Amino acid sequence: MIRPLKLKNLLLPSNVWYAPLAGCSDYPFRRLSAKYKPGLMFTEMCKMEALVRKESSTFRFLDFDPSMHPIGAQLCGSDPKLAPAAAKIIEDLGFDVVDLNCGCPVDKVTKDGSGSALLKTLDRLFEILVAIVKSVEIPVTVKIRIGWDEKQLIHTKMVELAEAAGVCAITIHGRTREQGYRGFSNRDLIQEAVQHAKNIHVIGNGDIFDPASAKDLLDRGCSGILVARGTMGRPWIHQEIVDVLSGQTQVLPTPDLVKNTLTEHCNEIIRYEAPRKALLSLRRVACWYLRDLNGAKQLRDLVNRSQTLEEMYSHIRAFDFSALSFTQQNELAIQQ
Ligand SMILES: Cc1cc2nc3c(=O)[nH]c(=O)nc-3n(C[C@H](O)[C@H](O)[C@H](O)COP(=O)(O)O)c2cc1C
Repeated sequence: MIRPLKLKNLLLPSNVWYAPLAGCSDYPFRRLSAKYKPGLMFTEMCKMEALVRKESSTFRFLDFDPSMHPIGAQLCGSDPKLAPAAAKIIEDLGFDVVDLNCGCPVDKVTKDGSGSALLKTLDRLFEILVAIVKSVEIPVTVKIRIGWDEKQLIHTKMVELAEAAGVCAITIHGRTREQGYRGFSNRDLIQEAVQHAKNIHVIGNGDIFDPASAKDLLDRGCSGILVARGTMGRPWIHQEIVDVLSGQTQVLPTPDLVKNTLTEHCNEIIRYEAPRKALLSLRRVACWYLRDLNGAKQLRDLVNRSQTLEEMYSHIRAFDFSALSFTQQNELAIQQ
């Protein structure tokens, strides 16, 4: 079930991948993720226009170090003329994979026809994919939702189209754009897409928070899975999934693992970000790690009230994690 996956000439060590997460899958996040060796990880999406214009803030999203390989970058845009140049920049920066975002539901992105709006303009989407595939040697992937709304489901059509364009893998989030993050990711439709695929890997995505949900999607024939919100505050989730699905004893995360990983994540943020940005990042990241722990409310409050990095950091280091226990809740209430 857990196995290497070949995309063109690239052999990925595992078919459990970590998702692009705007505002979250930044350099410090990926430093932590790399320790647990997901088959592939992604930077947050970046706009084709901004790349081609060489905006430095966009290039910062794309910072990576050798520990993060295999690593993919994700392009967001709707202009078939810009796409090849943007993809070439990604290849030249040393990325292993380039992905096209066709799932982002946010108005700011869809208003110019990008993200999930591309699911309504399939001719244009095809043109963009063909242009990207022609422009680079590295494998090209595409990430979609099942459709704009439930009346316009395009998951099987998209499999055909991506195959025809020469794309190596299609990641399918089983929600429509209209759904946002409400309800559940529709695994039956992901399975339908799997059954439709001839010459492309289908990667299942949506609501994978533990080994059981990972297994369910792999049982349905997906070549691999992409974990998104389940990685937030749990960079070890790849290891958890691999251990359980390969029949090894599951080593459950302990409160001390949470403390050590959170502390390490704080250090990465402090090293990478300017102090003001680091404080905001730390607050957000600490909430992910503390979310599933009974008895962590006091620390969450202290973290949220801290006015300096030093104050926040010292609260985390001083707090006794050994008395905490995990809640049973796996579903996250994080919304984009
Ligand atoms: C905070 C946040 C940021 C996201 N950013 C991106 C992004 O940059 N590109 C993308 O394709 N999807 C993005 N997504 C969607 C996820 O990659 C994923 O498809 C979705 O969350 C469903 O998977 P999950 O249920 O495992 O979270 C984002 C989701 C969240 C919650």
